[in-house]
Amino acid sequence: MSTPHNSAEKGEFAKTVLMPGDPLRAKFVAEIFLSDARLVNNVRGIGGYTGTYKGCPVSVMASGMGMPSMGIYSYELFSFYDVDNIIRIGSAGSIREDVRVRDLVLGIGACTNSNYASQYGLHGTFAPTASWPLLSAAVSAADRLGVRYHVGSLLSSDTFYNDDAEEANEAWRRMGVMAIEMESAALYMNAARTGKNALAVCTVSDHLITGEATTAEERQTTFTAMMKVALETALAVSGGGAS
Ligand code: HPA
Repeated sequence: MSTPHNSAEKGEFAKTVLMPGDPLRAKFVAEIFLSDARLVNNVRGIGGYTGTYKGCPVSVMASGMGMPSMGIYSYELFSFYDVDNIIRIGSAGSIREDVRVRDLVLGIGACTNSNYASQYGLHGTFAPTASWPLLSAAVSAADRLGVRYHVGSLLSSDTFYNDDAEEANEAWRRMGVMAIEMESAALYMNAARTGKNALAVCTVSDHLITGEATTAEERQTTFTAMMKVALETALAVSGGGAS
């Protein structure tokens, strides 16, 4: 079995999949952290790898950028490949003073300016949320690893460059949103619709208020901490997946 976007056979993905946006970062996770990793998909260069972490089967595959791309790949993993848990590992831009560059932000919820939820025909606004077993395991892992992190709301934006950035960012900040990225809300909605589990763990790569940004070297180090938190979370919920 394969899909227009994924050439893997059913059974080639582990129950838990880590999803960075960037295919090179997926390759990095597979090469540095997984044992016996093998490439199971490479359609459009969206590398998908399956290996083991401390003996536990784990896959890693890129999501691409934005909700439409994350929407396709996560839907297929949940619906056609029997994946139970997807953990997004990505970058985000902070809009809060207390949320600093290099901190991790764990999205308990993902607000969005996208129309993605309109497909569900709801008479109201859906609140995309993380799965508690994954979030709880990630918080424990971050505590154990001694990483600075915040748990709160993300904003999944349809635009990276927006005309009204200053006013829009301020309005979301007033609502307590920690940081802006572009994928988590689609992931959380697909998990909700398919009865599966999802979590976004992001590294703050830049600060949209102060203008501070991480250097390439710092990004590598802090992204490594994020990957470890995600892998330890995968390990904690392994054995049938979080329920
Ligand atoms: N906007 C959207 N996505 C991002 C940003 C941003 O400023 N920084 C990192 N990912």
